[in-house]
Amino acid sequence: MSRVEHFFLKKYNTFGIDSTARYFAVFSDEDQLAGLLAEAKAGAESVFILGEGSNILLTKDIDGLVLKNEIKGIELVDEDEDHFYVTAGAGESWHGFVQYCLGRNWAGVENLSLIPGSVGAAPMQNIGAYGVEIKDVFHELSAWDLEAGKIRLFTLNDCHFGYRESIFKKEAKGRFIILDVTFRLNKIPVFHTAYGSIREELEKMGIQELSIQAISQAVVNIRTSKLPDPAQIGNAGSFFKNPIIPNEQYAELKGRYPDIVGYPEAPAPAEPAASAPAATKLAAGWLIEQCGWKGYRNGDAGCHARQALVLVNYGHATGREIYDLSEQILRSVHEKFGVTLEREVNVI
Ligand code: FAD
Ligand code: EPU
Repeated sequence: MSRVEHFFLKKYNTFGIDSTARYFAVFSDEDQLAGLLAEAKAGAESVFILGEGSNILLTKDIDGLVLKNEIKGIELVDEDEDHFYVTAGAGESWHGFVQYCLGRNWAGVENLSLIPGSVGAAPMQNIGAYGVEIKDVFHELSAWDLEAGKIRLFTLNDCHFGYRESIFKKEAKGRFIILDVTFRLNKIPVFHTAYGSIREELEKMGIQELSIQAISQAVVNIRTSKLPDPAQIGNAGSFFKNPIIPNEQYAELKGRYPDIVGYPEAPAPAEPAASAPAATKLAAGWLIEQCGWKGYRNGDAGCHARQALVLVNYGHATGREIYDLSEQILRSVHEKFGVTLEREVNVI
C-alpha cells in the first residue's frame, strides 16, 4: 500500500485517542518495508512502528511516518526431541498465534492467552501474565536495523528481557523493526497453575484432567472478568508496572499497612534456589486503590472501577488528559507510600 497523508489513528490505538499521523502506510513484507523506509529517508521523516496499538498512549499528533506491521505467516521451522521451533510473522495477532499453538498441542503460550496486540510487539515489553513471560518460550527474532539498514538476528541473551522490559524498550528504543519471532514450544507441556486464581478457576470449570486448552480457557475467563474490553472502553491494560522494592522497605510498609499486597520477587534462575528473594513486587493496583482512585472519573479520563491499575478513556478523552491523570496518581502514590510508579504504557 502506498502512503496516505493525515491519517486518523483513533481506530489504531486501543485507548481510542484521536490523533493524526502525518503519513501512514502498512507493509506486509520486507521489500515493501524497504521501499517505504527509503521514501521516509528521502523526506527526512521520522518513523514510528505500530502493531495493534494496545500499549501506546498518543499524547500528540505524529509528525512523521507511521508504519503498521502486517507481516503474516506461522511456520514450524525445526524440532528436536523436546521442542517445536515455530516462526510467526510480526503482524500476526498474538492471541491468534496462541490459538494456533493450542490447536496443535504446542505448549508454552497458554498462560499468555488473550493478551491483545501483535506477535512483533510481544518481545518489546516481554509480555507476561499468570506466571509466564514471553522470554520463557523465546528462541530468536529477526529485526530491521534502522541505523545499519540491514536485518539483524537477536538470540534470547541479546534481548535483555526483564519484567516488562527488553533492549527494544530501553537501550535500542526506536532502532529496530521486529519482522518475525521464533518460539521454542514444548512437546510435553509443563503446566503453570500456581499463579493467581488459575487453580480456583479450573476447579470452578470442573476440570478433571489438566491440559493446555483448559489452562487457556481458565486464563480467558479470569481476564474477561477483570479487565475492560477495549472494544467497550478505551484502555491499554496495566498503565503502570508493579513496583519492585527492597525487602526492608516492604517490611516497613507492611508494619504501617498490614493489608498491603506484595509477592517475593523470585531470584534470577542462575541464582541458587535457597537464596532469599532480594526484593518484593507490590501490586500497584492496591496502592492506587488505597489512594482513592479506583472508579475515579474526570471528564472521559478515568481509573477503572474493577482494576485500578487500568486507566480508561470513556469516549473522548485526549491523550494529554489520560497522561495528566497518570501523573496525579503517580504523585499521590509517592506521597502516601514513598513508592514511585513507572509507566508501562509507551507514551508517545
Ligand atoms: P503497540 O501498542 O502497537 O506498540 C507497542 C510498542 O511496541 C510501541 O512502542 C511500538 O512502536 C512498538 N512496536 C510494535 N510493533 C513493533 C515491531 N514489530 N517492531 C518493533 N517495535 C514494535 N501486556 C502484558 O504484558 N500482559 C498482559 O496481561 C496485558 N494485558 C493487556 C490487556 C489489555 C486489555 C490491553 C489493552 C493491553 C494489555 N497488555 C498486556 C499490553 C499489550 O497487549 C502488549 O504490550 C502488546 O504486546 C502490545 O502489542 P501491540 O501490537 O498492540 O503494540
Ligand atoms: N489489586 C487491588 N485493587 C485493584 C487491582 C488489584 O487491590 O484495583 C490487588 C489485588 O490484591 C490483586 C492484586 O492486586 O490480587 C493483583 O491484581 P491482578 O491479579 O489483577 O494483577 P495485576 O498485578 O494488577 C498483572 C499484570 C497484568 C497481568 C496480570 C496477570 C503488570 C503491570 N500487570 O496485573 O498485565 O495480566 O498481572 O498476570 O504486571 C498488562 O501488562 O497490561 C497487564 C494487564
